[in-house]
Amino acid sequence: MDRKFTHVLIAALVVHIISARVMCPSNPNCVCGGTFSIELNCNIDGRVVKINLLPSTYLNIKCENTTTLDYSQLPKCANGTSTFKSVSFKDCPLPNSSFKDILMHIGVSKTMSLIFQNAKELSGYFDRKHFAGLQDLTKLLLSVNGVTHLPNNLFVDMHNLTWLNIRCNNIKLSEELFKPLERLETLEISHNQMTNMSSNLFSHLSLLRKLSLWQSNVTKVSKDFFSGVDVLEELDLSSNGLNELPSSIFKPLRKLKKLTLFSNKFSKLPQNLFSTNKRLETVIVLNNDVKMKELPKSLFGNLLNLKQVYIQRSGIEFVPYDIFTNSSLLTNISLAFNDIEVMPESTFNDQINLLELDLSHNSLRSLEPKLFSSLVRLEKLNLCYNSIEEVSGSTFSSLLSLIYLNMEHNNLKTISSYLFSNNKQRMSISLAYNELDFQNKELKNNSWTVEHVSPFAHTYNLRLLNLSHNKFRTIFEDWWINGHEIIDISNNYLESLWENKYFDVTEHSPIHEKLLSKPIKELWITHNPLNCRCNNLNFVNVFTNVFHTKVYEDTLINCSFWRVEACFYRIMTFVTYLILFVILISMLSVTYYHYRIYIHLFIKHKLYFLQKDAERVKNITVKYSKNDEEFVLKEILPELKVHKKYNVEVKCINCANNKNNFLKQQRGTNHSNIVLVIFSPNYLTSVYSNVNIKKIRGAMLKSKNTVYVFTDDGPENSIYAFLKEQRDQRSTILRSDPNFWTVLINMLSNGDRHSTIKMPLTSVKNGFLGINEFF
Ligand SMILES: *[C@@H]1O[C@H](CO)[C@@H](O)[C@H](O)[C@H]1NC(C)=O
Ligand SMILES: *[C@@H]1O[C@H](CO)[C@@H](O)[C@H](O)[C@H]1NC(C)=O
Ligand SMILES: *[C@@H]1O[C@H](CO)[C@@H](O)[C@H](O)[C@H]1NC(C)=O
Ligand SMILES: *[C@@H]1O[C@H](CO)[C@@H](O)[C@H](O)[C@H]1NC(C)=O
Ligand SMILES: *[C@@H]1O[C@H](CO)[C@@H](O)[C@H](O)[C@H]1NC(C)=O
Ligand SMILES: *[C@@H]1O[C@H](CO)[C@@H](O)[C@H](O)[C@H]1NC(C)=O
Ligand SMILES: *[C@@H]1O[C@H](CO)[C@@H](O)[C@H](O)[C@H]1NC(C)=O
Ligand SMILES: *[C@@H]1O[C@H](CO)[C@@H](O)[C@H](O)[C@H]1NC(C)=O
Ligand SMILES: *[C@@H]1O[C@H](CO)[C@@H](O)[C@H](O)[C@H]1NC(C)=O
Ligand SMILES: *[C@@H]1O[C@H](CO)[C@@H](O)[C@H](O)[C@H]1NC(C)=O
Ligand SMILES: *[C@@H]1O[C@H](CO)[C@@H](O)[C@H](O)[C@H]1NC(C)=O
Repeated sequence: MDRKFTHVLIAALVVHIISARVMCPSNPNCVCGGTFSIELNCNIDGRVVKINLLPSTYLNIKCENTTTLDYSQLPKCANGTSTFKSVSFKDCPLPNSSFKDILMHIGVSKTMSLIFQNAKELSGYFDRKHFAGLQDLTKLLLSVNGVTHLPNNLFVDMHNLTWLNIRCNNIKLSEELFKPLERLETLEISHNQMTNMSSNLFSHLSLLRKLSLWQSNVTKVSKDFFSGVDVLEELDLSSNGLNELPSSIFKPLRKLKKLTLFSNKFSKLPQNLFSTNKRLETVIVLNNDVKMKELPKSLFGNLLNLKQVYIQRSGIEFVPYDIFTNSSLLTNISLAFNDIEVMPESTFNDQINLLELDLSHNSLRSLEPKLFSSLVRLEKLNLCYNSIEEVSGSTFSSLLSLIYLNMEHNNLKTISSYLFSNNKQRMSISLAYNELDFQNKELKNNSWTVEHVSPFAHTYNLRLLNLSHNKFRTIFEDWWINGHEIIDISNNYLESLWENKYFDVTEHSPIHEKLLSKPIKELWITHNPLNCRCNNLNFVNVFTNVFHTKVYEDTLINCSFWRVEACFYRIMTFVTYLILFVILISMLSVTYYHYRIYIHLFIKHKLYFLQKDAERVKNITVKYSKNDEEFVLKEILPELKVHKKYNVEVKCINCANNKNNFLKQQRGTNHSNIVLVIFSPNYLTSVYSNVNIKKIRGAMLKSKNTVYVFTDDGPENSIYAFLKEQRDQRSTILRSDPNFWTVLINMLSNGDRHSTIKMPLTSVKNGFLGINEFF
């Protein structure tokens, strides 16, 4: 099929291209080109004229910047017997001969329609001669600026005209002008000044079926304005300054089907305006510049053919109860964008065929319970942008065919839970931008009851349930399980998607079966303060992965990874943690076993230090020679005893029965004890009498845990003086030192610091370093 069509299309194009090439007229003034149509660029005495034509179809002549043109120099574009559907002149000056002559000259024998447009100020006037000889013409469009007069005999030679469109600003139309146009069926006069119109202007147009007078400054019409226009079917009086209509103005229009009244200034419409227009099917009143406030009683009543009524943006406040009475064929009614506060209960009583009702953008505060009771065929009901606060149970119960309900942008706080219980259609309901929470009370049997019952508990199989931008704090489980297709609960205050318990959709559970047979297709839950609890995470997970719902969500995606994992794989995660823990413990045990010696040593050593610094009592042995006994007993011992942490023992080296070898004794000394030697010249001579000076010094330097107190200055150049000079500052002190006691106490407490066991300590450290690296 397609292929065949393509072939035909290509063939047609080829024919056109060939004929275009063949027919391209040769003219010294013009350059010919174009692929699918012939395009001629002509220069006639310096004036640029572009001609574009498709044989048998159209021929367009466009003048650029020409206020005068010698039409006789236009090229011959066709063979003189060709007929065209339309010929147009754009921005060209008025010719001083007939259009017929020009058409003959360019080779056109006949055209159905003629278009003459000039957006610039046209010089000269139309004259009868311009249209002489155009008996065949059926359509004429004159769209020009600057012509203020059309002579009465202008159309005398155009008997066959059926369609006339005059877009002239500021022309005066006379009664005689249209007289010759006996066959005229469509007349459009626009962009004109018809402030002063005579009554019988159209009275001879007995075949006129469409009349448009839009934007023609018709501010006032006499009551017999349309007399004689018996068969008119469509009338457009839009965009005029009309502020009133005589009540009998449409009386002659017995065949009128469509009336359009955009952008006028009616402050009211007369009663019985359409009483004779029994064929009326459509009435459109839009954008009335003046507030109309009220419509007359029974305005659209008793019109048995009326199908569509649109009265929008007209400032209607009051609608009479019988406005549509007895007009039972109405299918579409719109009273949108008005200021209606109350719709009388019986307004739509006879509209058993109504399909679409639009009452949006009004000020309705409530809906009468029986307002829609006859609308059994209604499919579309638009009530958005009103101020409705509540809807009682029976309001929509008759709307058996309703498939689309829009109640967005109202003040709805309460709706009955039986609202949609009768409806069996796959409905789309939007209640977005209201104040619904279903927390408190609902209207039941005309009395308020406080119950937490979902208004949708009895509503099944919706195509769309839009509850976005409301005040829900809690969910209702029927949202999920009543077979709806798309649910929008975005922009509410929901923290939880599934109340109380873990969302249980284990296989073969009733919820699971329900959701599998009728899964939700789309679920919009963005902009809710959902918490990262497992019931929410699990809910979204199950809907996405089990029921293949498209979930639009922007809060839970920000929950931490662990949170999500913990919810989805609780047991798995627990087991994983357990295994990890066991592995860790075994690794630690192995490590401990391997390095236990070093660990023990390390711990012991640490303890040793702690003890030593804190509470360990030091043994101090004071060694002296007999001559220094007084100094020891009077100065050293009393001061040392002040410090309780010293356990002092004195040892005189040359007193009776006490001649020991000092070096030997020192070697045997317990490492934790300190020897305080009162090193006077007497002590030197008593202990080291046979030893040479180098050995003495070596012994003093090597000795551990020994502090030497040099008591005297000693004779010059003596061994004593030499030893004093070369002494080790860390373990010796002069008796004359002004800070003697401070320094001495400090030495005694640090005395065995250098004596610590260094080797094992480094080993222990290395051992632990090893463990660290292992981790
Ligand atoms: C028409 O004339 C005006 C000034 O007279 C000039 O600015 C404009 O470019 C002209 N347009 C063409 C298409 O020649
Ligand atoms: C028509 O106009 C052309 C040029 O504009 C002029 O040469 C010719 O004389 C005019 N003919 C008549 C009959 O006025
Ligand atoms: C003129 O052209 C038309 C098609 O445009 C054609 O049908 C007709 O035969 C041609 N007449 C002459 C005399 O060439
Ligand atoms: C135009 O009208 C005349 C009578 O005035 C008639 O003979 C002729 O057939 C009509 N032409 C068309 C194309 O209708
Ligand atoms: C309207 O027509 C009447 C006579 O028919 C005339 O007196 C009046 O001046 C006209 N008004 C305008 C604005 O043309
Ligand atoms: C007629 O319409 C024009 C614009 O289309 C407007 O400027 C003018 O004021 C109108 N005149 C009357 C009398 O309404
Ligand atoms: C509606 O029609 C009935 C009978 O056809 C008639 O009695 C009644 O007056 C009409 N109602 C209106 C408001 O015209
Ligand atoms: C009238 O309503 C029907 C049903 O909703 C709709 O299909 C149709 O497009 C409406 N007609 C107009 C002109 O809006
Ligand atoms: C309303 O009242 C009627 C009778 O009083 C009762 O049968 C019906 O069940 C009630 N409906 C509700 C929703 O309570
Ligand atoms: C619900 O209504 C709001 C407001 O009109 C709209 O923005 C949103 O797209 C609707 N949701 C769906 C799923 O159509
Ligand atoms: C979630 O995170 C994204 C970017 O990480 C951020 O743009 C968005 O606002 C966050 N949503 C909420 C509800 O915090």
